[in-house]
Amino acid sequence: MRQTIAPVVAIDGPSGTGKGTLSQRLASLLGWHFLDSGVLYRLVGYLALKRGIAWTETDALGALAAALPVEFRTGVEEAEILLEGECVTGRVRDEIIGAAASQVAAVPAVRAALLARQHELRQPPGLIADGRDMGTVVFPDAGLKIFLTASPEIRAQRRYNQLKGKGIDVNLAPLLEDIRARDERDAQRAVAPLKPADDAIILDTTRLGIVEVEDLVMRLMHARGLA
Ligand code: DC
Repeated sequence: MRQTIAPVVAIDGPSGTGKGTLSQRLASLLGWHFLDSGVLYRLVGYLALKRGIAWTETDALGALAAALPVEFRTGVEEAEILLEGECVTGRVRDEIIGAAASQVAAVPAVRAALLARQHELRQPPGLIADGRDMGTVVFPDAGLKIFLTASPEIRAQRRYNQLKGKGIDVNLAPLLEDIRARDERDAQRAVAPLKPADDAIILDTTRLGIVEVEDLVMRLMHARGLA
């Protein structure tokens, strides 16, 4: 019997564009699998900090990524992330871990080591893959590629609201500065830089709400026979 390969929808773009929320909503609406690839880079960054590995120790970082001792436990809401048995679900979302993730994400050995882990998640009935290089590198044959953008100001504001909502005291200016620095590093790196695939559909979410974006993507999926 001929094995049919599960369909993939790639959702790429910088943080604060609504990528994660959109991907999770689509996956749960369709009953598809969900890959949050950023979490993998965050976990490598977290472990590197914990073990005192410098960003220049590329072999050690690659080895860390290849043997990532992580377990995802699916719960009622967000999946619980256990790293070496320690629950890090909340911690990996910290700004400092995001910055560490962006450092390790520039290391080719880390990216190569995480490829197989990402491919494993391509299972029927389909996969919604959220990241920076889903459409360009990890799933170049994705049935639909979406690249979300939004102004740095609105992305910083969204992050600010998110953190405030969690009761975390933050200022807008450093968040904006951090977003600009991270965009620059993610777009300039030599390996898998943040850029839309040639066949990606670019959606600017600066003035769009999540429901409007979801509607648009669902229509595109229907048009391509994906849902
Ligand atoms: O989406 P996020 O904020 O969780 O991503 C954290 C960092 O990981 C981000 O700075 C870029 C990097 N990343 C990447 O290089 N490739 C991916 N597919 C996902 C994330």
